[in-house]
Order: sequence, then C-alpha cells, then structure tokens
Amino acid sequence: MTVETTANRINLYEPHEWKHPTKVAGVTWKNPVGTASGTFQYAAVRWFYDVSQLGAVSTKGVSPVPWEGNPSPRTAEGPASNINAVGLQNPGVDHYLVDDLPKLKEAGATVVANVAGHSDDDYAAVVAKLADSAADMLEINVSCPNVTHGGMSVGTDPVALAKLMDRLRPMTDKPMIIKLTPNVTDITVPARAAVEHGADALSMINTVLGMRIDIRTGKPIIAHVTGGVSGPAVLPIGLVAVYRTRTVLPDIPIIGIGGVDSGEKALEYLYAGANAVEVGAAALFDPVAPLRVARELDDLLDERPELAAKLAAGKTWR
Ligand SMILES: Cc1cc2nc3c(=O)[nH]c(=O)nc-3n(C[C@H](O)[C@H](O)[C@H](O)COP(=O)(O)O)c2cc1C
Repeated sequence: MTVETTANRINLYEPHEWKHPTKVAGVTWKNPVGTASGTFQYAAVRWFYDVSQLGAVSTKGVSPVPWEGNPSPRTAEGPASNINAVGLQNPGVDHYLVDDLPKLKEAGATVVANVAGHSDDDYAAVVAKLADSAADMLEINVSCPNVTHGGMSVGTDPVALAKLMDRLRPMTDKPMIIKLTPNVTDITVPARAAVEHGADALSMINTVLGMRIDIRTGKPIIAHVTGGVSGPAVLPIGLVAVYRTRTVLPDIPIIGIGGVDSGEKALEYLYAGANAVEVGAAALFDPVAPLRVARELDDLLDERPELAAKLAAGKTWR
C-alpha cells in the first residue's frame, strides 16, 4: 500500500533501508524516531504503515487494573496545540500482556511499555507483570498532569521519585526510562534524582499544564478543568528541557518529546543532546507522522555524518 503525503511522495509501507540507527540504554533503534505514549494505537495505524519500521513504539500507559479515565469533554484546541485530560484510560496490564504487546512484537516492533500508576504500589504491580514480558524497554510515566494521585505529583517531587525508583529498580533488568514533566522550575532536579536512583534513560517532556475557558459559559472547556498541552506550541519547552538536562547529565540517554512533526524538528532535539525523539500529537491528525518524520530525518542525517556516527555509537551531539 502506498501512502502519499503532500510533503513528499514516499512509500511508507514498504520496508526502507534505514541508514542511521541510534542506541537508547543499550537498545538499538533502527532510526531515532518512536511514537509518544497515548498517541499511537496499533489497531488504527497497522493499515497505514509497517510498525516495525519505526525506531520504537511507546504504547499507552498501562495500570494494574483497567482505568476509565476522566469525564468528557476531555480535549480542547489551543493555539498551535492540543489540550487533553484523558486521565490515563486504559484496559489494564493483563489485557496489554495478551493483546497489544504480543501483536506489536509479532509485527516486529521495538516496544517501550509505558507504565502508569496512582501510587507506588500501582507502579510496582505493573512493573512486576512487565518484568519478564516481551517489552524491550519500560517507560515510567511520573509526569501525567491529568491524575490526582501518582503521575505528575511524583515527577515534581525528587524525594518521592527517588523512593519510587528504589522500589522499582530491583524489580527488573529491563532498561527503565523515566518520563519527566516540564511542570517544574528546574527539570534537572528530578532528572538527577531519577538517574542517581537507577534510571537507564530519561524521556521528556510530558504535556504542559494548561486550560481553555468557554466564553459563552465562563467555565473551563475540559471537565477535569485542567489538561496537558501538546503539539507544535510545546517544541521550545521540550528543547530547553533536553538541552539543560544534557548539560548537567552528559551520559544519560535522553528521548526528546514535544512538538515534533517533521524531520527538521527531530533534528533540533538531536542537536540539543537527545539520542532519539518520540512523535505525539502530530499523529493525532496525521497517523503516518511518526514514520514520515523518521524518513525525513534519515535523509537529513545523510548530510550530517558526524551526528549520525555519534548516534549510531550510542553517543550524542552534546
Ligand atoms: C491524547 C494524549 C494521551 C497521552 N497519553 C500519555 C500516556 O498514557 N502516557 C504518557 O507517558 N504520556 C502520554 N501523553 C503525552 C505524550 O506522550 C507526549 O509526551 C506529549 O504529548 C508531548 O509530545 P507531543 O507534543 O509530540 O504530543 C499523551 C498525550 C496525548 C496528546
């Protein structure tokens, strides 16, 4: 099947000869582009492209039991952005282990299993079930702004984060990525806490806290009142998070997230010091965006052999 975009007419379904791999915490990604958690659904995208062609697939956060998420309305438009308060709705880790995960592995994807929790016990229950699973990496979401317990309340408190890491780290040998929130004064503080307590990699950013008001009613549009802002508007916020973290933690693998919708924007994250990127909101209105970004980046890296060589060796530009 050939999917044509107006940007460039390339066949997104046929396997591509990837030229520029990267390494994240010892795991080779065939290219530096993955999907961002919560914006990818295998059942939907499998008709558009071959998921094994992505660097990695980060799946929707899973909790110990099914979660219904927040009441509707859960989304609103923002300037150059999208605001969501889905509230980590998901069918639970047991369903994930018999459905999404085996299907993605059968399709040849490198899978990053994203872990959600309302408490340390929740996170530990999910990690225990994923510890010996087929997932290639775990991504612990301590940064969701849309839940009242767990999520961002852990990622904004370095002491709570350190305590959670001490609990989770001995439970698995799988590479553990900690996903951080930009809703802090200095993201390098939780970043250091995560790394000092055993994180193998960091991913940043999760969504930025925000809201919209309906001027006809004078009330918030989103039922949860606040939501998380994603999309092009958050690119500069994600970039500064990666740049500053790379400055203080020269060796930790970093996955840059936020506002990536083209190869050029992915390249900005790589120059900021990321080993890889994930594409989120762009995929909500263009399902093939992650693979398109990967193809664009593959060509851009042809012209940047020094950067490409560093990534392939598990190193970063800065
Ligand atoms: C609808 C939606 C659902 C999301 N669900 C999750 C999730 O379950 N776990 C998580 O770690 N991040 C989740 N995120 C955050 C994204 O993975 C990403 O960090 C954020 O949207 C910024 O990237 P973007 O600007 O490319 O969208 C979600 C984002 C959106 C828009």
